[in-house]
Amino acid sequence: MTRPVVNIRADIRKYEKMAKHCIFIFFVGFSVSLFVLNFGWFYTSEYGSYTISNSKEYTLKYGSGCPLIKQFAGRTGNQMFMFASAFAIAKKNKMTLHVSTKFPLRRIFRLKWIEYRPTDILNKMVVNNVSDNGESATFHLDLMTINMCNTQLSGYLQSWRYFSTYTSEIKAQFQFQASIANQAQDYIKEVMKIHNAFITVGVHVRRYKLDRPGAKTKGYRTPPVEYYHNAIDHFTNLYHNLNIAFIICTDDYYWVAQNLNRSDVTLCNTHNPAALDLAILSQCNASIMSIGSFGWWAAYLSEGPVVYYGGNPIPGSDNDQSMVRGDYFLPHWTSMLE
Ligand SMILES: *[C@@H]1O[C@H](CO)[C@@H](O)[C@H](O)[C@H]1NC(C)=O
Ligand SMILES: *[C@@H]1O[C@H](CO)[C@@H](O)[C@H](O)[C@H]1NC(C)=O
Ligand SMILES: *[C@@H]1O[C@H](CO)[C@@H](O)[C@H](O)[C@H]1NC(C)=O
Repeated sequence: MTRPVVNIRADIRKYEKMAKHCIFIFFVGFSVSLFVLNFGWFYTSEYGSYTISNSKEYTLKYGSGCPLIKQFAGRTGNQMFMFASAFAIAKKNKMTLHVSTKFPLRRIFRLKWIEYRPTDILNKMVVNNVSDNGESATFHLDLMTINMCNTQLSGYLQSWRYFSTYTSEIKAQFQFQASIANQAQDYIKEVMKIHNAFITVGVHVRRYKLDRPGAKTKGYRTPPVEYYHNAIDHFTNLYHNLNIAFIICTDDYYWVAQNLNRSDVTLCNTHNPAALDLAILSQCNASIMSIGSFGWWAAYLSEGPVVYYGGNPIPGSDNDQSMVRGDYFLPHWTSMLE
């Protein structure tokens, strides 16, 4: 038996082939890196690495990667105004709204089409600030155009005019989390059964404490009891042949129990979380507002006819001067006094 002679020629051909493969693989890798660097899929900066590019996939998912940054203050109703307006402004400018990962409305609504970032990163991203300058219930047309990525938008932005062309998107954003929506639905069904009612009218009774410091100069005026009776009569007349259940959610249970003690009225459980009250009121067929942005949103989301209190704020007060009534109340809503 003889060992086969090593075929040097064949070995050389083998190594040549392998080298060609290596060069090819290297070349492909190099080209891909160049492509990525040029078109930018991933952007790394001192804020950590995040996508900010024009990559097609990113654009399809979020719109443009150009961030509009919004921080939030106040309670649920305030935050809803800030979110709705900022989202609409971002959309109009083909930007992506960036909010804090701690944004409380996430727990209430099934929010979409936005980006979450830790607050410290959001703060570092800001290169430009724009604001409504404290005139929160006045529409500022100039805020609809944002000229720069990474602009921080400030203010309470309490005007429906910011999002009037994106109504369906805003309604889609404010879809309640399923557990809240179901609880509200069950409650309304129960109330309708007890009252043998075909129609529900949601009533928000917010009793702003007028002895609170500064309340008078600011110009808050809590609706008197006559306003609620008149508004209830208004809907009783409007739906004259149907049984109506008036569902009152309030921050002043004892005042309502004493002053609006009527057989057609049901009071929401005082231990309800605010989100559940909002879901209940927004599922009613019509709305009676008192004061404040919480009741505003309940009325807006319910989509039925709305009565609001026209006596707030007190004319000439601070709140009155920072407000354009037509920017705050919708044109088809009905104003009533006592
Ligand atoms: C934007 O406003 C914040 C305060 O809200 C401030 O800390 C920051 O320095 C401002 N940034 C620019 C670029 O003006
Ligand atoms: C509400 O009215 C009923 C009778 O109409 C009365 O029995 C009840 O005590 C009243 N409740 C309050 C809190 O005034
Ligand atoms: C009232 O609202 C409920 C939903 O909460 C709806 O199912 C019902 O059809 C509405 N009734 C009328 C008369 O619009």
